[in-house]
Amino acid sequence: MCGIIGVIGNGPVVPRLIDSLKRLEYRGYDSAGVAAMVDGSVERRRAQGKIRNLEAVLAEEPLKATIGIGHTRWATHGAPTTVNAHPHKAGRVTLVHNGIIENFAELKAELAAEGHIFESQTDTEVIAHLLDAELKTGRKPLEAFKVTLDRLTGAYALAVLIDGEDGLILGARRGSPLVVGWGEGEMYLGSDALAVGPFTQQISYLEEGDYVAVTRDGAEMFDASGQPVDRAVVQVSASSAMVEKGEYRHFMEKEIHEQPDSVQHTLSEYLDLVTGKVKPQGVDFAAIDRIQIVACGTAFYAGQIGRYAFEKLAGLPCDVEIASEFRYRSPAVSKTTLAVAVSQSGETADTLASLTWCKAQGLPTAAVVNVHTSSMAREASVLWPTHAGPEIGVASTKAFTAQVAALLALAVAAGVARGRINAAAEAELVKALFESPRVIAEALRMDETIRAVTQELSKATDVLFLGRGPMFPLAMEGALKLKEISYIHAEGYAAGELKHGPIALIDEETPTIALAPLDDVFDKTASNLQEIAARGGPVIMITPENAPDPHGVGIRRIDAPDCHPLIAPLVYAVPMQLLAYYTAVQKGTDVDQPRNLAKSVTVE
Ligand code: M6R
Repeated sequence: MCGIIGVIGNGPVVPRLIDSLKRLEYRGYDSAGVAAMVDGSVERRRAQGKIRNLEAVLAEEPLKATIGIGHTRWATHGAPTTVNAHPHKAGRVTLVHNGIIENFAELKAELAAEGHIFESQTDTEVIAHLLDAELKTGRKPLEAFKVTLDRLTGAYALAVLIDGEDGLILGARRGSPLVVGWGEGEMYLGSDALAVGPFTQQISYLEEGDYVAVTRDGAEMFDASGQPVDRAVVQVSASSAMVEKGEYRHFMEKEIHEQPDSVQHTLSEYLDLVTGKVKPQGVDFAAIDRIQIVACGTAFYAGQIGRYAFEKLAGLPCDVEIASEFRYRSPAVSKTTLAVAVSQSGETADTLASLTWCKAQGLPTAAVVNVHTSSMAREASVLWPTHAGPEIGVASTKAFTAQVAALLALAVAAGVARGRINAAAEAELVKALFESPRVIAEALRMDETIRAVTQELSKATDVLFLGRGPMFPLAMEGALKLKEISYIHAEGYAAGELKHGPIALIDEETPTIALAPLDDVFDKTASNLQEIAARGGPVIMITPENAPDPHGVGIRRIDAPDCHPLIAPLVYAVPMQLLAYYTAVQKGTDVDQPRNLAKSVTVE
């Protein structure tokens, strides 16, 4: 989750870039850099560490210009060194990037074979080389940019300068956000409203797949197919841009759409895509024989998804318990059990008390938390951070997927440490995880289809959610989301459990939402859905387009992206969240602050 700023104006640009980068340090701060157009050619200054180090470099070697781009980095590919710091340069092209280019290894090999020399270990540098190569064929900048974008797989927000194009910044977004800021005789690009906040409050939010040519006079925007488009200019408040809804109606909607970014940022904490390996996690997984996860609410369901992964990938027994039960029932624990608290806030009273109790028993402890200065972060021996950023909506969305992403990555790490996962399998699983931001972005395109379904769903009084394997806890999470913001009664069940009782609830008025990725239990889930359809129950089956048809009358399918089974909980979380969100919007409830709830539950 890196920060991006671009300024094309008339006054000195570098102080403005620095001003913006300081506001963006929350997005990453292992290195920073700026590039500016000096007499028609682009010069860079970069530094490892915080922005103040970059300021020191600029004091030694100033840059005088009116057009520039800047970046503050959270390392994904390559160590946090100066050489890996953005902007990256190849030939005439200098650019900054937020996101992950999944096919960078193939592109890099291809470019290297053509004689391109790379200076960094980043995925970003291949984009600069690709675009430079396209410019060398004689293509104009915009056309060359589009051809380059079409070759990239993965997620990105980009800001680009080209030598000789004095008066142009190119930008593009897919998966990672990018905004255009409108000033008086000046224009801006930024990774969010906060980036351009010091200069303007007039913002256009680029949409998925958009690219843009920004000049001093304005911005020409294009959609993914290359058609010119206009994106509305909206007014935001600079002081609170970080906690503003921006283009979204509710924080929850905004936070749902931030998930490609927040999942990527979280995964980068645990995995190294350059090497295809897990990073050291601060816990010796070979020295423990059990994991005890404690959590509440949504975090509890994230923990349950984690359990499937720890047991399957690492052969590590894993118990998951609701913290308010765990803390009062005198659980039997052993000192070779790792106690793991999972929490967005890091302050939930029951989870904190359970963690403290485990620590007092002499258990090794770890905490998967989003607020890194919280009580749990300080209490646990090991902090396993999630990087969802501030979550304002009471209904947890991006914090949940960040927790799941962290736990899946940790399960892979545990499997490697315990000799259950060899190097080839590790590379495959790391790759699958790093694909998840892109596939989550694909899942966000289900928005319209889901919205249509919720017209009916909002009339229901009871809804069932079904899944098998990790989709079972996700079904419970889907039910919790619907309950808490739409006030419709909902329950999540293991699909195989239905005929042991809950099937008695099925009638024509009770919809069932089924989560059916194409995994090794798909056929079993499909059979359960036929049983419901045969009894007149309406079924909405969320499943990949290429999945076989269960042939049940009344089974309605919603296409979801096909994906590696490991990341299915991350991908299928999106339609669950959208279902709850649009149902609540239909019902006109207070989405961000539902009745009776609080964001952080610091009482028992
Ligand atoms: O801050 P925590 O993750 O510890 O909070 C736990 C629950 O209170 C929280 O997940 C709650 O269930 C959410 N409102 C669900 O959306």
